Order: sequence, then structure tokens, then C-alpha cells
Amino acid sequence: MPRHLLVNARLATLRGGRYSIVEKGAMAVDGGKIEWVGPMAELDPRLRGDDELDAHGALVTPGLVDCHTHLVFAGNRAREFEMRLAGATYEEIARAGGGIVSTMKATRAASEAQLAEESGRRLDALIEGGVTTVEIKSGYGLDLESELKCLRVARSLEQPRAVSIRTTLLGAHTVPPEYRGRSDEYVSFVCEQLIPAAAKAGLADAVDAFCEGIGFSPQQTRRVFEAARTHGLRVKLHADQLSNLGGAALAAEFGALSADHLEHTDEAGVQALRRSGTVAVLLPGAFYFLRETKLPPVESLRRHGVPMDVATDCNPGTSPLTSLATAMNMACTLFRLTPEEALAGTTIHAANALGLEDRGVLEAGKRADYLIWDAEDPAELAWTIAGRRPTRIITPGAH
Ligand code: NIG
Ligand code: FE
Repeated sequence: MPRHLLVNARLATLRGGRYSIVEKGAMAVDGGKIEWVGPMAELDPRLRGDDELDAHGALVTPGLVDCHTHLVFAGNRAREFEMRLAGATYEEIARAGGGIVSTMKATRAASEAQLAEESGRRLDALIEGGVTTVEIKSGYGLDLESELKCLRVARSLEQPRAVSIRTTLLGAHTVPPEYRGRSDEYVSFVCEQLIPAAAKAGLADAVDAFCEGIGFSPQQTRRVFEAARTHGLRVKLHADQLSNLGGAALAAEFGALSADHLEHTDEAGVQALRRSGTVAVLLPGAFYFLRETKLPPVESLRRHGVPMDVATDCNPGTSPLTSLATAMNMACTLFRLTPEEALAGTTIHAANALGLEDRGVLEAGKRADYLIWDAEDPAELAWTIAGRRPTRIITPGAH
């Protein structure tokens, strides 16, 4: 990325998690980093030069961060969508051997090239919507080779694109058929073989689990977290999505980066998140697609000052969504976030949920990931339903 100066921009810097607008702003970029941000009137004349990018008064924001996706998978689940609309529940389909296991079968059968091709298309859609950093989970392989394959594919998607990818090992997503009725043994496999192998290969940045009646119990989740800790990996959790098993408090106890979903989290869970500094990731796409009615405790999270993120949860079963702006709109309409909270939840706080302190805010010293929008008001980004796209994406590229 060449040294350049952005001028005449309406900068939504997101400093402090607010819009923190700089009117008639300028931003100097050097070596892929922001060197200076402020009003044009205060610009050091020595920073001016030939390499100026004129925003003509348009809105500029940090690049968006999608901090929770399962976008590496093969096939689709349209048939299950039809079954659910005809009356079957998500849990019933899962218990009957469908759900995650049906995607697991398609994913195990796919070659790495095939998987990269299908998944790359979903990633490209996110990027077109302004996502410059994305987290991708495994969890549709559920055996040693297939889980590592999914993580390798996820990592490989970064190279040809101007995007940063963080990978999360979600071996504890569901019990695969070969371990049916032996979930504790499957957890032992995750702890004793899968986590060590992924850590040794350097393929995972974090470890996640699905703590739920149709997933893993709190005790099993605890074992997974202990193994992650032994291998120096941070944790995050699919917590309290369909019922309250105390997932948020468990995640907090292990100093999780984030606790995700949280529809059934109670007051004690919110307080635990606050104490541990764990970010709350809200996934309105899954709430919408499963036609859930139990709302996450947004008012309580706000009152306790727990940072709230918004992510797509892009996956075939509960959220086939590839627009983060649409997720922002849903977070506002369904969960009553303000458009400002939704934007903070897809920039500065979302970066924190990935343990990344170097992005998500337009500030000197941060990465120069930024977006120019055909918009004036930052609330416009969450206002449209069909996912608005930036007119320009400026990013130093991978890593
Ligand atoms: O985030 N809850 C578990 N995992 C995914 C759904 C996975 C699937 O149904 O394929 C989720 O909602
Ligand atoms: Fe998820």
C-alpha cells in the first residue's frame, strides 16, 4: 500500500466505541498504518502531496470485522429449511442425524480445492460488503484430518484476497456419528488429539465449543477449555443460544475472548462477562432464521458496559448470511441496538473479540483498513436491509 493522504472525508473514527465524527477530515497513511487523523484545518502542510485521495465529502469508516463465521463448509441445508417451515424444529432435525452432521458429511467428502472454491465465494460476498477481517471456525469436519483440512482451507483463503483471517477450532461442535452415544470419548479425542494437533500445526488462533443440550455439557466444555489453555489458545463459546446452561459465566471463568449468541443468558451471566472483560457477540441472523423469540439481554449488557458485537454467524444451518451490514440492520430491528452500537460492534469491539488491538478504529498507529461509502450519515449503514456496499475498500491486505 503506497503512502497516501485521504482528504475531504467525513470520518466516523469509532474512537471510544462512538461514531466520533471528524468533519472535513484527513488521514495520512504510511506503511499500511494510519499516521495522522484529524480535521483538514489542522493538517500539517508537509503531509500534502501528489498522492491524495479525495473523498469528496463522503463517509469513511474503519474496515468491518466479522468476528464469528462458519463459512468453510460444503453443500447446503435448503431441504432442512423446508422441513423447519413445515413444522420440524432445529433440535429435532439435529437429533435425527441431520443438522451439523449433514453438513459434516458433505464437508468430509469435499476436496480441499472444492471446499476453498465454495467457501471463497461466501468470503468474497463478505469482502464486497466491506469486511476486511474475518474469523472462520472449523466444526464441519469432526475428525482429525477433516478438521485440519477445514482450518487449512480457511487459512488458504487469505492469500489471494485483501483480507485478514483468524481461525478458530470448533471440534466440539457436535458428536459425529462414529462416536454416537459416547460423547465423553469424543471430548477426549478433541482434548487429547485435535487441540494438540491444531496447536502444533499453528492452524488455530482460538478454540470454541457449542455448549448446549444438543451440543456439549458445561462439564465437557470445561474439559475443552482446559485443553485449550494447556496449549496456549484463547477460548470463546457458543453460549446460551437455545437454553441457559450457564455458558456465559463459564466462558467468563476462562477469560474467554467472547461469549456468542447469549439469547438465554441471565443477569448473573452478564455480570460475569463484565467482570472478565469478555465481549458479547450477538448473532441476529441465527435468531431471525430460526424464528427465535427469546431476545438476548441487550439492556442488561448495555447497563453493565459489556461491549456488544454483531457478526453474521455465516453457516448453512442457522444463518446463511453473507452481509455484515444486513446483520447490523437485524441487530437494530430485532435486538434494538442503536445504529451506532451496531457499527461499534462490527469495528472496534469486533476487533477486540478477536484479540486484535491494532484495528477497528481510525487512529494514529492502527492498521489502515478503511472504507469509503456513498453515504453521509453513519446510521445509513445499518438502515438498509439488503446490505449496502462501500464504494472503495482500502486495506494493506493480508495479515
Ligand atoms: O452458530 N450453534 C451451533 N453452530 C451454528 C449452527 C451450525 C449448523 O446448524 O450448521 C450456529 O448457530
Ligand atoms: Fe456460530
